[in-house]
Amino acid sequence: MNAPPKGQIQEQFLTLQELVEAARRNLPPGPWSYLVGGAETETTVRRNRLALDSIGFRPRVLRDVSKVDSSSAFLSRKVRLPVFLAPIGGLESIVEGGAAAAAQGAAAFGVPHMLSSVCQPGLEATAAAADTLRVFQLYVRGDDAWVDDHVRRALEHGYTAFCLTVDVAMYSRRERDLVGRFVKPWRATAPAGSSYQSGLSWSQVKRFKDKHSVPLILKGIATAEDAEIAVQHGVQVVYCSNHGGRQLDHGLGSAAVLPEIVKAVAGRADVWVDGGFMRGTDIVKAIALGAKAVGLGRLPCLALAAAGAPGLARALEILENEVQTCLGLLGVTSFAELTPRHVTAAPPVGEHDVFSAFPLLGEP
Ligand SMILES: Cc1cc2nc3c(=O)[nH]c(=O)nc-3n(C[C@H](O)[C@H](O)[C@H](O)COP(=O)(O)O)c2cc1C
Repeated sequence: MNAPPKGQIQEQFLTLQELVEAARRNLPPGPWSYLVGGAETETTVRRNRLALDSIGFRPRVLRDVSKVDSSSAFLSRKVRLPVFLAPIGGLESIVEGGAAAAAQGAAAFGVPHMLSSVCQPGLEATAAAADTLRVFQLYVRGDDAWVDDHVRRALEHGYTAFCLTVDVAMYSRRERDLVGRFVKPWRATAPAGSSYQSGLSWSQVKRFKDKHSVPLILKGIATAEDAEIAVQHGVQVVYCSNHGGRQLDHGLGSAAVLPEIVKAVAGRADVWVDGGFMRGTDIVKAIALGAKAVGLGRLPCLALAAAGAPGLARALEILENEVQTCLGLLGVTSFAELTPRHVTAAPPVGEHDVFSAFPLLGEP
């Protein structure tokens, strides 16, 4: 993949859609299917978009929006947008440099990067690659001592929070990968230990909280009931996610679940969300509904596949422009002014899939 020099990239990519088109051209069929696919019928993938498309805006006018500030706080640190790079395993099959390229793109723009434990070049080298605000996400593939060792290494390398992904008790059936015979490199080399993940229960969360003071994020909470239990265990962040529709099929769209989670948490922890977020308007909807931050999964991967770290930074710039446009048109000058009254249920229009945020894709 040839990343254009900085400067040209602003002219080359005027819209997010153009980055998606370039990614499609650059990626071979196996990595492409791995990236865009979901579990079984991919109903959860489509519901992520459907849920976002079923939210409409209630704009207010005549409120002087000549200056709009779209910055936010992420675990008490200032960030340029209320978004972060969600953890992506096997990114090295999508972009040269894997997680290092993602961290560099995130750093160039100014948003946090959450590193997956199953992504090359790994915890230490990714930390060395860029000066980002960073979080480490672990798939539990070993005993308590193994987990503790990852916490130690993460803290030693400047990761400011630790995330356990809890929606992977079973490894799902990703039929695009199966049909295409695509074997992810990390699956080929490190399949052992997944029974530890299947065996996880709230007692390990308790043990973690008793032993470690690093902020803990539980990723993959999809009901008010589990949000309540998470808060009772003292987690700092309840991360509402269905893994981008890649785990349980026939789940609900994340944006549809978010309100019940925000209500259950009731300000006792931060709520983050991901699943289908592709546009500035999507980000604004989540924050209006009470999320503190939005995880971006496939979108940064597509931007990286299009043009490496500069492509990712460019995608974030475009997203920022979209966010600011949306905030201004809603009559607010910052996220602090946004409330649930700015959104309402609305009939969705058109198709709902990974790419329905880009309706012009494929048109001349
Ligand atoms: C290619 C790919 C790899 C992923 N790998 C991980 C992972 O290693 N750990 C994890 O917690 N979630 C993983 N996820 C899920 C994302 O962190 C995130 O929850 C999801 O992609 C959000 O949905 P979106 O892609 O529609 O934005 C992965 C998602 C994709 C697309």
